[in-house]
Amino acid sequence: MEQLHIVGGHRLSGKVRISGAKNAVLKLMAAALLVENECIIRNVPLIKDVLTMIEVLRSLGAEITWEDEAVLRIKPKKDLNYTAPDELVREMRASVQVMGPLLTKIGKVKLFQPGGCVIGQRPIDLHLKGFQALGAEVVEEHGYVYADARKLKGVDIHLDFPSVGATENIMAAAILAEGTTVIKNAAKEPEIIEEQNFYNRLGARIRGAGTDTIRIEGVPKLRSVPVDYTVIPDRIEAGTYILAAAITGGDVTLVDVIPEHCEALTSKLKEAGVQITTDGDMIRVVSNTRLKAIDTTVLPYPGFPTDLQPQMTAVMTLADGTSLITENVFGGRFRYVDELVRMGANIRVEGRSAIIKGVNRLTGAVVLAPDLRAGAALVLAGLVAEGNTVIEGVHYIDRGYERLEEKLTALGAEITRI
Ligand code: EPZ
Repeated sequence: MEQLHIVGGHRLSGKVRISGAKNAVLKLMAAALLVENECIIRNVPLIKDVLTMIEVLRSLGAEITWEDEAVLRIKPKKDLNYTAPDELVREMRASVQVMGPLLTKIGKVKLFQPGGCVIGQRPIDLHLKGFQALGAEVVEEHGYVYADARKLKGVDIHLDFPSVGATENIMAAAILAEGTTVIKNAAKEPEIIEEQNFYNRLGARIRGAGTDTIRIEGVPKLRSVPVDYTVIPDRIEAGTYILAAAITGGDVTLVDVIPEHCEALTSKLKEAGVQITTDGDMIRVVSNTRLKAIDTTVLPYPGFPTDLQPQMTAVMTLADGTSLITENVFGGRFRYVDELVRMGANIRVEGRSAIIKGVNRLTGAVVLAPDLRAGAALVLAGLVAEGNTVIEGVHYIDRGYERLEEKLTALGAEITRI
């Protein structure tokens, strides 16, 4: 079992390049099942979830090769399988994002029903209601979900919650449907705009991604053209390095980043006393005073991202005063709090909120990452804690952060994998 060992107390400084967005690339890979010819996806991060998605797509019948560092070539076979191995679907929930593309391309799909997970309940009812509204027959039995559709028909769908995954799956399913589909209360994440752009390059007619209403005009066929697509930078990885600079009192410049995608975080940090400047695709973060405690409310995009909630909590443990973080997206995303408390933090969780009383110092300890972003929060705490921090559960962190130790070491951190 691998561990990360961190010697805390080093102020981070220098430049860090942000990798391609995990949560965009995984969906573009699933979307590639609809490609008639073949496609190239660039700026692909070398992370565990991408490797798992490669296995999922291969099991469905796609040929995938790494062309170069960060470049994937995907060529789906004519006859795709309609199901992927259970263990892959179990390993990574994002596997459910192949459902929409498969339903469109071959008219049926069967997958192991993904259950709850470490960050809370994660049903897929909104995905399935969307497929049904489009005319698919959906059956859930013996732990599997089957969807079958000879013909899909455009329809208006109002989502109860702007779910990222449901928006993406319904968008994919509606591409070849007869007539127009309108998704209302759609998720507005930048990753959804990426998918719209990708599908439109294939010949789909989708408008409105990035707003709460997406209109998909069904087309009879997609074009058989090779597509070459470069993925946007990862706003959550960027946010994690911004917070790493903030917690260590550092001076860090992020390059290859889209500053607008990070605004919910950067505006909060300015309120806390961090100096943040942007220039084109760069963000400079300078933090040289003790931060002020601030309250943060997690909401779907463009609100403060749930995927930065644990890292923000870590930063607030050392702020001056008491801060409140309220999580409105995932019910169970405070499981890391006990680990921060073991490092000396003063945090109390009440329902969907964490109340954080700023302390003067954290101290290194052996801690266990319960999930990906919580793992990142423990790394941030370790960077500033006195003495040594040992982080277990590193496989979670590897799911979403490319070359984490290498990047942090280049910024002056003392972190090694054992
Ligand atoms: C995506 O998950 C991301 N994953 C998550 O990233 C991210 O935290 C989340 O969006 C929110 O931004 C990927 O993109 C692979 P949702 P997704 O559907 O699509 C409820 C990370 O660390 N819901 O928007 O699964 C659900 O329970 C991760 O990188 C239903 O009730 O999120 C949750 O409370 C983890 N029924 C809320 O909606 C449904 O059918 C948001 O979920 C679907 C969702």
